[in-house]
Formats: sequence, C-alpha cells, structure tokens
Amino acid sequence: MVKTGVSLVVTICALIYPVHLLDNGLAQTPTMGWLHWERFMCNVDCVNDPHNCISEQLYMQMADIMVQEGWKEAGYEYVCIDDCWLAHERDSQDRLQPDPTRFPSGIKKLADYVHSKGLKLGIYQDVGNLTCAGYPGSHGYYDLDAETFADWGVDLLKFDGCNFGTLDILVEGYKNMSRALNATGRNILYSCEWPLYLWPFHQPNYTDIRQYCNHWRNYGDVYDSWQSVKNIIDWTAIHQNLIVPVAGPGGWNDPDMLVIGNFGLSWDQQVSQMAMWVIMAAPLLMSNDLRSIDPKSKMLLQNKHLIAINQDPLGRQGYRIGRVNSFDVWERPLSDGRYAFAVLNRQEIGGPRQFPLLLATLPSWKTCHPECRVTQILPSYQDLGVQNLNSALKLTINPSGTVLFTVTLNKGLAAEQKWNWNMTKKRKTPNSVF
Ligand code: GLA
Repeated sequence: MVKTGVSLVVTICALIYPVHLLDNGLAQTPTMGWLHWERFMCNVDCVNDPHNCISEQLYMQMADIMVQEGWKEAGYEYVCIDDCWLAHERDSQDRLQPDPTRFPSGIKKLADYVHSKGLKLGIYQDVGNLTCAGYPGSHGYYDLDAETFADWGVDLLKFDGCNFGTLDILVEGYKNMSRALNATGRNILYSCEWPLYLWPFHQPNYTDIRQYCNHWRNYGDVYDSWQSVKNIIDWTAIHQNLIVPVAGPGGWNDPDMLVIGNFGLSWDQQVSQMAMWVIMAAPLLMSNDLRSIDPKSKMLLQNKHLIAINQDPLGRQGYRIGRVNSFDVWERPLSDGRYAFAVLNRQEIGGPRQFPLLLATLPSWKTCHPECRVTQILPSYQDLGVQNLNSALKLTINPSGTVLFTVTLNKGLAAEQKWNWNMTKKRKTPNSVF
C-alpha cells in the first residue's frame, strides 16, 4: 500500500514537473577537457612504464601542462580519470579506494591539486558489478560511491555500463546514480553510456536519458583510426532525426574522445575529426599525450574559432544535410542567426577534388537572405567576404579532409533584420499597441 502511494506521488510529480531531474546546472555548453582512456588505456605497469601508466602523476602532469600550455585558457577544464584507477577491493567500510601504489596520495589530494590549478577532476565508475576492465563496480553502492566522490571533491563522473546484469539494473542504475549525485549537494557532471548499452536490446528513450545525464555515449569506443572516426560520424548522421533534437544546454550526445595528436589520423583526418565534433556540438574530451603533442595538432585543438562554434550558446547540434558525389555536407545553426557548415570529402582515392557549392542550396542560407559574410575556418582561416544568393564557392578538398565555414549576417543587415523580426513579433502579440 505504502509503496503504491509513494509511486503515485512520484508519478504525479513527474507529470507536473517534466524537467531536468539532474539538477546540477552543468554542461550548459559541451564539456571540454582531457580523458585518459584512448591514449593510455589500462596501463597499470608503473614499474616498467612509469611515464605512461595510470597513476596520480599522469593527471598531475596533464593538469600542469593544461595550465602552462594554453589548454585551460582555450577552455579545456576537466582532467579525467578513466578505468583502472581502483584497488581490487573496497575498504573495510565498503568505500572505494584507489590503487595504493599508483595513487599513494589518494583521490582527495589529487582533486585538491587539480583544483589548485583552476581545473576540475573527473573520475570513472560502472553501473554494474565490475568495470569494463574488471575493477569493483558501483552496483549496490550508488549512494555510498556518490558520497565518496563528493567527499573527495570530484567534479565529473563517467559512468560506464559493463557487466550490468539485467536491463532493469542498467536503467535503474543510471537513474539511481543520477539521483545519488544530486543528493550529495555537490555539482558533479554526469557522463553516461546508458544508450550505448541499450541499443542491442531496443531504441533508447532519449528524452528520459536527457533528464538524468549531462552527456551520453551512443556508439562504440573511438580508436586511433580514420575508420573508427568515420563510423562514429556515419552513425550520428543515420540517427540524427532521433538524437539531434534532444541535444542542448545541459545534455549532449557524446561521440567519444578526440584522438587528434596521436598516431592514427593523417593531418586532413585530424581536421575532419575536429570539424565534425564542433558541428556535432560534441564534448571535446581529448585523449592524447599533452606532454609531447605536435604543434600543429595543438593549434587545431586550441583554435578559438572552432571552440567558439562548439561552445555556441544556442546549443543546437548540427546535422548532415546531404551526400553528393562522396561529399558530405553538414550545417549547424548558431546564435544570432549565424551558422556553420562543413563539407567532408569521403573519397579516399586520388587527390584533392573540387566541389562547387551554390550557397542558396544550404537550408540555413535563407536566414541571411540576401547577403552574408562567409569565413573559412578550416583547413585554414580565410575571410571570403560578403556573398549573396547567387554566390558559388569553388571548394577544393583533400581526400578525407573537411572545409568548414561560418556564415554571419552583415552588421547593418543584422540590425535591420532584428528590427523587422521584432516588429513581426509585436504584431503577433494580442495586446500589442501595433
Ligand atoms: C568502455 C568505455 C570506454 C572506456 C573503457 C574502460 O569500453 O566505452 O570509453 O571507459 O570501457 O574500460
């Protein structure tokens, strides 16, 4: 009886307040930071490979560099631990503990260190009995683990879905951890993999997921290869009608880490990953070695024009508008009537190919009729001046490369259009004096 009464109240509340249940106010723009997994994986051999193993030193060094080398200034804020940080047993009070030899100072000290640099610390756990790499999972301990993370001063939780047991445990586990994080009173950004683990069974309910998570992985792990990056881009385009509308301030689709600056992507492919992650309003979580990254990759990742598009306050995710002759055309609406568009050359044989683009064929072009200022951002910055409905851009794009542009209203025109729009709005208001 009591249980039925409680669920009735919960149901009524849910109907009255169909709001973001994860009440942390975080991720108003996509998260930016560094996450160890793709580059450092589960390297726990600190005896033979102390420089690259998962230890407190690795995160301290990344934090130092993020401050010294302009990453923090560019917007990269979270230093994130992935799997393999844990000891194999909980402590005598069932609390999680880090591996004592690799994290001798403990996570609280590490969080203090990262905070002293003006950065934030992310950590990793799993909804099931074990993490993907076989360390103790959170199942049965959601409240205790959330409290432990809050006590330590953790700022982000990546919550994986390996070894979840039943679908009910998976779904309820993700929801319970969200509630548990909320209950700590500390604002902890909640990064989920819930839909990725649901897809093999049924189509996830994204409206539901958005209420509990700040971002969510939909597709398999990124690898350091163009094939992997392409698969993620294609999956996103194929499912865009389902996943694009749910993205926005507070909740984002997460296509996984940026692997720029590693070994597997050519220069053009690095440009393409950055361009697409920016268009897709994706969290920008780099997984690379900031201690030895080459200057070109660093420049690409710190490009302020690209970061401004990714972090645009309107928070609308971009989408693919078409595929012509192995060119994919994408666009993303931005604030103040601006937008970005990108053309990716999918052909991986031959040399650079030409793509004549009639601007009037872009769906967003109508927002800046009759004229707009077009700026090329990638592969290099170039002001293309004012263009009109009849303009055609002659693009030359390298195999697996991307060109990316922003389109901005002319200043004078912008003011005039805003005025027109306000007048229309006023006319539509029933009590207006107009
Ligand atoms: C899963 C996740 C990865 C990473 C590993 C760690 O595969 O999708 O991002 O966290 O687990 O084991």
